[in-house]
Amino acid sequence: MTAAIIDGKAFAAKVRGEVAAHVARLKEEHGIQPGLAVVLVGEDPASQVYVSSKGKQTVEAGMASFEHKLEADTSEADLLALIDRLNKDPKVHGILVQLPLPGHLNSELVINSIDPAKDVDGFHISNVGLLGTGQKSMVPCTPLGCLMMLRDHHGKLAGMNAVVVGRSNIVGKPMAQLLLGDSCTVTIAHSRTKDLAAVCRGADILVAAVGRPEMITGEFVKPGATVIDVGINRIERDGKTKLVGDVEFASAAAVAGAITPVPGGVGPMTIACLLANTLTACCRANGLSEPSGLTA
Ligand code: GUN
Repeated sequence: MTAAIIDGKAFAAKVRGEVAAHVARLKEEHGIQPGLAVVLVGEDPASQVYVSSKGKQTVEAGMASFEHKLEADTSEADLLALIDRLNKDPKVHGILVQLPLPGHLNSELVINSIDPAKDVDGFHISNVGLLGTGQKSMVPCTPLGCLMMLRDHHGKLAGMNAVVVGRSNIVGKPMAQLLLGDSCTVTIAHSRTKDLAAVCRGADILVAAVGRPEMITGEFVKPGATVIDVGINRIERDGKTKLVGDVEFASAAAVAGAITPVPGGVGPMTIACLLANTLTACCRANGLSEPSGLTA
């Protein structure tokens, strides 16, 4: 293996430490405590794990955590009424509705009912538009975490060729916008891209966010490139459940200059950025200066 390992676990711990220090100052100097409300509808086991982890890390950063667990058959009207209450609650600076929602609920409608200033996921149509036009917005947590790791590793990204594999609203599209904002030359590739391996081999920065286990192999990687693996896939191998990314780690690491592992790469950065976004939202709501290095 030649690639340097980008340690997302350690970097996330550093980000959480910076958030906690800023939160402590806010309390001391202004008597303000940032608050994050997380809404979970139903009992999806993976979502339950994420939500409890978010709540725990929110409290560890010195912020207030408000968890709202609703029955799987909650009506849209009841969910919208809760979001309306959270929008109006001055103790709540960030609102996150855990996705996916049960099928009878219209996710777009629900997300767009969140006050954009409290939309710490950055999924509201206003935030998507602000990001796309290069204005101040709330930025989706996973791509923000990837950007922070890339800036940390490379310094400036200007002029680099970036290929993002995946075009989801949660990762692929906002990731492309962020890289463009840092003056990369950006290609968005996806399942219908012709000769995907050749397109990927043009990348100085390769971001894999396709949701297909180990689809990106060493063949897709330009020697010395930086590979960011957003995938989290559970697979059965040798009778055991294993967590793997969208990148085949061993073959990619043999070619890449730097690579994020799974687990311990992008994953821990997502919640760290959620905390950073909550802090940013709180600072903006109170007309205070924003934390530096924790926003796009
Ligand atoms: N489900 C999986 N990832 C996410 C995320 O980033 N935000 C929300 N709200 N739900 C998710």
